[in-house]
Amino acid sequence: MSPSTPSTQVTRSQELYERALRVLPGGVSRNAVLRRPHPFYAVRGEGCYVTDIEGVRRIDFANNMCSLIHGHAHPAIVAAVVEQMERGTAFTFATEAEVLYAEHMCARAPGFEKIRFVNSGTEGVMTCLKAARAFTRRAKIAKTEGAYHGLYDYAEVSQTSNPANWGEADHPRSNPVVLGTPRGVLDDVVVIPFNDPERAVRILSEHAGELACVLIDPLPHRVGMMPATAPFIDALRRWTEKDGALLVFDEVITFRSEYAGAQAWYSARPDLTALGKMIGGGLPVGAIAGRADVMDVLNPLAEKVLFPHSGTFSANPLVMAAGKIAMELFDRDAVARLNALGDRARRQIADAIETAGFPACVTGAGSLFRIHMTPEPPATYREAYMDPRRTQLVKALLDHAFENGVMLINTCSGALSTAMTAREIDVLSDVLLAGFRKLKEMK
Ligand SMILES: Cc1ncc(COP(=O)(O)O)c(C=O)c1O
Repeated sequence: MSPSTPSTQVTRSQELYERALRVLPGGVSRNAVLRRPHPFYAVRGEGCYVTDIEGVRRIDFANNMCSLIHGHAHPAIVAAVVEQMERGTAFTFATEAEVLYAEHMCARAPGFEKIRFVNSGTEGVMTCLKAARAFTRRAKIAKTEGAYHGLYDYAEVSQTSNPANWGEADHPRSNPVVLGTPRGVLDDVVVIPFNDPERAVRILSEHAGELACVLIDPLPHRVGMMPATAPFIDALRRWTEKDGALLVFDEVITFRSEYAGAQAWYSARPDLTALGKMIGGGLPVGAIAGRADVMDVLNPLAEKVLFPHSGTFSANPLVMAAGKIAMELFDRDAVARLNALGDRARRQIADAIETAGFPACVTGAGSLFRIHMTPEPPATYREAYMDPRRTQLVKALLDHAFENGVMLINTCSGALSTAMTAREIDVLSDVLLAGFRKLKEMK
């Protein structure tokens, strides 16, 4: 069925949403799926297409918030999961699947000397921060303003800062996301600006000897999806090394960027890396990987266990089976092919913007892109911040794309999957061209 569905068929989603509202706050379990007037309900995914409950099929550039690297229901991943499922889904035993997958991941990136699997990106980031604290015996962490790292109290700080509360650029404020966040959490998080080595180092130096780690996403989505520059990463590496703090990369999204993750872009290497999303092959996952001596804080065989750590579903065999096959399929050739498709997508979007003559721009790298309603790419969170006008334009473009069979992430971002070809990219840029023309009329 075409995306422009008659209104009678929308009723099934509406009905379901009315029921959902009675039992789920706001009718959803994750805010990312909320759409107005109601969310859409998926019934099936095949490759790069998703069919909703009304029978409408769309190209999926959201890929469950960048987590599906091969699209939906890849036959080899399905077979691996079914095969494991028939033998049991969870045990109070270790499994061979976990060992095999750990070997694959440690062979992938030079800095991954040891790895431990958890259940989400949030948990991966939290485990990195706690491991850094246990290793350094220090409490504070530093992070870039506005960067999203999941739901851990400390990692959340400043994620939703706005012009009314973000403070001076020389000292961005530690603002909570959730009401009632303990004052101590805010005091223990140092906020630095993105891609501003001088300011960042100046702020960090005010906390010399107190920081367990500096947490950094090399391509932070909410900060504008501009890659961290080499001078910025080098400055953070030099400062942390001198100070005895650790450098932690959040590669929950960006690991898809290169065979060994976005850390391959830099000569500096992180001490720890948080992973998640695509490494689960479509199932819920997280991981922490890095230097063996740091990872050893998790070692339950140590004379003094510094960081006792467990999780009922950590390294679940279904996830290990799905993740391993997904990552094996995402070999060097597949990474190169997907990144070339990403270059093509960003180029064609930029062309559509130019053809339409609308003041927008596109950022991103590898297989990720984000469209901004500004003529120039934002350099920091403050520049990427969406005021009501930009929010309105983004919503209008998202609605237009959705009505024309293209599903994007709610910040007007997209993540490609290996199930895509140039054909889907052409549809994307054609739909966006018509969308930018519409936005021009709205102005
Ligand atoms: C960079 C980054 N880190 C961490 C997370 C948290 O991952 P999860 O949603 O699996 O908890 C996300 C989720 O979007 C993310 O984008």
